[in-house]
Amino acid sequence: MGQLDGKTAIITGAARGIGLAFARAYAAEGVRVAIADINLEAAREAARSIGESAVAVALDVTDQASIDAAVADVEARLGGIDILVNNAALFDLAPIVEITRQSYDRLYAVNVAGLLFMMQAVAKSMIARGKGGKIINMASQAGRRGEPLVAVYCSTKAAVISLTQSAGLDLIAHGINVNAIAPGVVEGEHWDHVDSLFARHEGLAPGEKKRRVGATVPYGRMGTAQDLTGMAVFLATPAADYIVAQTYNVDGGNWMS
Ligand SMILES: NC(=O)c1ccc[n+]([C@@H]2O[C@H](COP(=O)([O-])OP(=O)(O)OC[C@H]3O[C@@H](n4cnc5c(N)ncnc54)[C@H](O)[C@@H]3O)[C@@H](O)[C@H]2O)c1
Repeated sequence: MGQLDGKTAIITGAARGIGLAFARAYAAEGVRVAIADINLEAAREAARSIGESAVAVALDVTDQASIDAAVADVEARLGGIDILVNNAALFDLAPIVEITRQSYDRLYAVNVAGLLFMMQAVAKSMIARGKGGKIINMASQAGRRGEPLVAVYCSTKAAVISLTQSAGLDLIAHGINVNAIAPGVVEGEHWDHVDSLFARHEGLAPGEKKRRVGATVPYGRMGTAQDLTGMAVFLATPAADYIVAQTYNVDGGNWMS
């Protein structure tokens, strides 16, 4: 018996990385999981790797019609939604004087508007069903402080923390808990991309930025997606019912240091 037997979850951006690790962890706890991603082929492959408790769903969080269709698709295939993990996000890096409108618009469309309107669509579905629910937003340590080259991404993650506070206070009236997880630095394709951007902007050898950030984590290494799954499961259980509008650091002590 899993801790979340019979529940249904939708996880955005779950075709790889942290979202995929959450999908695996939820499936192991008895959840039927919708792996919702803009990369449908990768989402299908991810769902196949989990087995019959997972389905792939096409989703572009920047497109309202796609959000509405994905929510309806999950309701039709898996039943009412109990858990939403707002995980899809983009990263970019540039000094203030080089930030482009295009980069700003892309990041805000996915990381902020995409997260807000997914939350809205799933909250409407949860309210109509009348059974409450759990919404977990992926923030970041980047949302807690600025960084010279990371202004746009950091500000999107600060917005995630703020939206989690406001939505948490609003939706708890419907029995929907909204909370967030703020990871530090997590191994995977996302950080490989971050490392390559830092290599270009700071003139570092490939892998050097990763080595440096990993070395400064108090725990002694970068995080893994697996390090975050305990919090993702906990926040979806009844043990977290009284937790409202919070953002939890799961970062090996990185933020505190
Ligand atoms: N990896 C880290 O070090 C780290 C640290 C702090 C916070 N986070 C946050 O955790 C979350 C997951 O990070 P990750 O490392 O697994 O990222 P990732 O880049 O590996 O995965 C992101 C997923 O989102 C999907 N996606 C992108 N745009 C989309 C869209 N418009 N609609 C739907 N799906 C879309 C991608 O296809 C991909 O599968 C993100 O919110 C990220 O900001 C990550």
